[in-house]
Amino acid sequence: MRFSILRKALQSRNTNNISSLFNSTTTFRPFSQVSSQSQRPSFGIAFDIDGVLLLGNTPIGGSPSALKRLYQESGDLKIPYVFLTNGKLFRGGFRESKRASELSKLLALYIVITMQVVQGHSPFKQLVNRFENELIVAVGKGESAAVMTEYGFKNVLSIDEYASYFDNIDPLAHYKKWTIKHAANQNITSKEMASRIYSQRVQAAFIVSDPVDWSRDIQVLCDILRAGGLPGRETGHQPHLYFANDDLEYQATFPIERLGMGAFRIALESIFNRIHPKALEYTSFGKPNPSVFQNAETVLKQLVSSLHPSAHDVNHATPRSHLFKTLYMVGDNPSVDINGARQAGRPWFSILTRTGVFKGKENHAKFPADLVIDTVEEAVDYILRKEVTH
Ligand code: G3P
Ligand code: MG
Repeated sequence: MRFSILRKALQSRNTNNISSLFNSTTTFRPFSQVSSQSQRPSFGIAFDIDGVLLLGNTPIGGSPSALKRLYQESGDLKIPYVFLTNGKLFRGGFRESKRASELSKLLALYIVITMQVVQGHSPFKQLVNRFENELIVAVGKGESAAVMTEYGFKNVLSIDEYASYFDNIDPLAHYKKWTIKHAANQNITSKEMASRIYSQRVQAAFIVSDPVDWSRDIQVLCDILRAGGLPGRETGHQPHLYFANDDLEYQATFPIERLGMGAFRIALESIFNRIHPKALEYTSFGKPNPSVFQNAETVLKQLVSSLHPSAHDVNHATPRSHLFKTLYMVGDNPSVDINGARQAGRPWFSILTRTGVFKGKENHAKFPADLVIDTVEEAVDYILRKEVTH
C-alpha cells in the first residue's frame, strides 16, 4: 500500500499576490486600511466547516454570530481567519470563488474572500502544468469536471460522461434511473468524441468530491487503472490517482457519521489489489497532512498583510512574513482536524467541538485536543477573551 502525501504541491506557497486577495465575491471593502503594522494580530483562526459551522446547509453552534465577531461593525474583516475544509457535503465540488459566495450567504457574513476558502481539492490546481492537455477523468458529486476545467485542465471528462462512451461497461446501468448529461461541445459530434476517447489513454483520475455511484465508479476506475488508461486494453502502467481527502467518516445531517472519501478509497484499493498483481498507487490531499496547515498559515499571513499593510508590503510584491504566536484550528474530527494541527506543531492550537464527528464528554484518547468545548461560538469566545483582552 502506498499512502503518500504530495508535499511538493501543497507546500508550494500560495502565489496569489495581494491584488488577487480582493477578487472577492461581493463588492464590500475587504479590510480596513486605517490600522497600522503595530496592530497586526498575533493570532489567526482556521475553521473546519462540516460539523463545526454547518450541518448540511444549516448553520450550527451559533456559527453566524461567532463569525460576525471577527468583523468590524463596518463589515471590514478584523481577525484573520480561513475556512479549512476537506470537503463539500451535498453542495458539490465547488470552486473556491463559488464556495466563498455560498458561505457568505449561509453564514450571513459580510464578505468571504476567495482565498479564505481552502478546500480538499484546492491543491489539484498545482497539477495543471503536469496534466494540462492530457485526458483526465474527474470523479464525484457536484461539478467535479467543471472544477477541474476552471482550474485550467483542458481535457477533462466526468467519470459519468467517460463511462457513457463504453457500451455495457456498467452491467447494472439498466437498474439506475438517472441520466448522464454530456458536456455541451458544439464543435464536436458524439461520434467524433467517442473516437477521440478510444484513441487516448487517461493519464490521471481525480477524486474531487464524494463519489455518487460507488459500484460503477469502482468498476470503471479499475478498468482505467489496470489497463493503463484505456478500458478493455491489455494491462499497462497505472495512471495517476489523486484523492482530495482521505476522510473515513464525516458528520452530515444524519445523526450518525457518514462514509467519506477515505471509505471509498479503501473499497477501491481493496478490490483493485485483489484483481491486479500490483498494489494501487495513489496520493491523498487534505487534512490531516501537515502541509495543509502550512498552507493555511501562509494564507493567514497574506490576510494579515492586507489587513495591516506595512510600507514594505506596499512597495514589494511579496508581503513581509508575519509571525503568529498562536494559530487556532477549530475542528470536529479528532483524527483529521486535531491530528493535523498536532502534527503541524507550534504555533497551532487545537480546539475540538462537540457538534460533529466528536461527541465525547472527555478529550479524545488518541488525538487529544488542546481544548474541548461544545460549540464554535464557545471557541471564538475563548479565543477572543484570551487574545483581545490582554
Ligand atoms: O470529507 C467530508 C467533508 O465533508 C469534511 O469536511 O469541513 O469537516 O473538513 P470538513
Ligand atoms: Mg468537519
